[in-house]
Amino acid sequence: MTTRILTGITTTGTPHLGNYAGAIRPAIVASRDPQADSFYFLADYHALIKCDDPARIQRSRLEIAATWLACGLDADKATFYRQSDIPEIPELTWLLTCVSAKGLLNRAHAYKASVDKNVEAGEDPDAGVTMGLYSYPVLMAADILMFNAHKVPVGRDQIQHVEMARDIGQRFNHLFGNGKELFTLPEVVIEEDVATLPGLDGRKMSKSYDNTIPLFGSAKQLKEAVARIVTDSRAPGEPKDPDNSHLFTLYQAFSTHEQQAAFRAELLGGLAWGEAKQRLFELLDNELGEARERYHALITRPADLEDILLAGAAKARRIATPFLGELRESVGLRSFREQVQVASEGKKKATKAARFVSFREDDGFRFRLLDAAGEQLLLSIAFADGKAAGQVTKRLQAEELDLHAELNAFSVRLDGESVAYSPEFSSDAERDAAMQRLREALAPQE
Ligand code: TRP
Repeated sequence: MTTRILTGITTTGTPHLGNYAGAIRPAIVASRDPQADSFYFLADYHALIKCDDPARIQRSRLEIAATWLACGLDADKATFYRQSDIPEIPELTWLLTCVSAKGLLNRAHAYKASVDKNVEAGEDPDAGVTMGLYSYPVLMAADILMFNAHKVPVGRDQIQHVEMARDIGQRFNHLFGNGKELFTLPEVVIEEDVATLPGLDGRKMSKSYDNTIPLFGSAKQLKEAVARIVTDSRAPGEPKDPDNSHLFTLYQAFSTHEQQAAFRAELLGGLAWGEAKQRLFELLDNELGEARERYHALITRPADLEDILLAGAAKARRIATPFLGELRESVGLRSFREQVQVASEGKKKATKAARFVSFREDDGFRFRLLDAAGEQLLLSIAFADGKAAGQVTKRLQAEELDLHAELNAFSVRLDGESVAYSPEFSSDAERDAAMQRLREALAPQE
């Protein structure tokens, strides 16, 4: 069974070496696991909450997209997209907003921190607090629940948000699931042993401390940054203490055990700091050189990046669109045109009851097949008119079913063409069970 891993990257800054070691590199490694079904996306709606500079938003989206691809993310295997290309996400955000307790959001750390700061400054408690900031956790819950993620790897500051997504999902399941788990409840994953890199001054590397090493600057910029790493004043020839040197900590994050042992011995033997910096520069340049070239090639071809991200969005929406349809039904947003036709009409066994529900959308006529419990078995393609859709539902009940497994879902074909698709399942076994249920629901009666 595959595990769906999902995480978002807020597109405000330019990625630095700390982001690379702490988030990008481990996420790309995790996405290569054959058991992993990874969803990585640019959280650009979230970025709007923190930043009202359009040029910076645009620049950061481009840089972050290019960074992940340059570092080796395989956009064919993982699903890599921009949040803002998935209109189902804001729509789901509203459905979730309607079941999210205000009291729950009052407790969110980020909102509380703003309020505390205002109170301390003698301001109105909500001064400068937008509804975007207040509702941040609901948007994040929609990101996660939309794709029924099992695992959500995040930094410690985001744990509470994933817990809120669970709370909100659970409440929605309870209110509208009719005993069924509409949403998978996500689990937070904190990578304990992932490196938090020290910055130039030894504090955690962070844009807010202005102590970062750029990831994809030129070799010259990398060298200049390394030259600014703060060291103690021991002269060349004097033994250095590797365990109290953040230069050594940085070296460790990118080297093998043998390289570390050799570097440690050199420092203890009195290597000059200037030499030590040259060693670190070479190590980093070697680690990042190829990716840097790929990055610069990508960033000069923004139209190609656009295509890659749009393909990712299309892949994500193949899941999001039918699932949101199901969610809309579950809360009572249903078409007035729905014609209920009971598939088992005239059949003897009530256990086989399933019903076709047809409806009209902008792109044509579709139908769903729901089982006796109202669970969706199939969603059809769009047909030119209601009659064509009706003929297909008749044939599906009369003819032998031609089912094709496709990843975690399956399709139904007539005359070799797919006419309807199942929802996504979380395992092959679940998918196969649903194929069996469909056969039973539509089996011609003797
Ligand atoms: N809020 C996250 C952060 O700042 C980014 C994010 C947005 C996210 N949506 C998400 C992370 C969904 C995980 C899952 O780091």
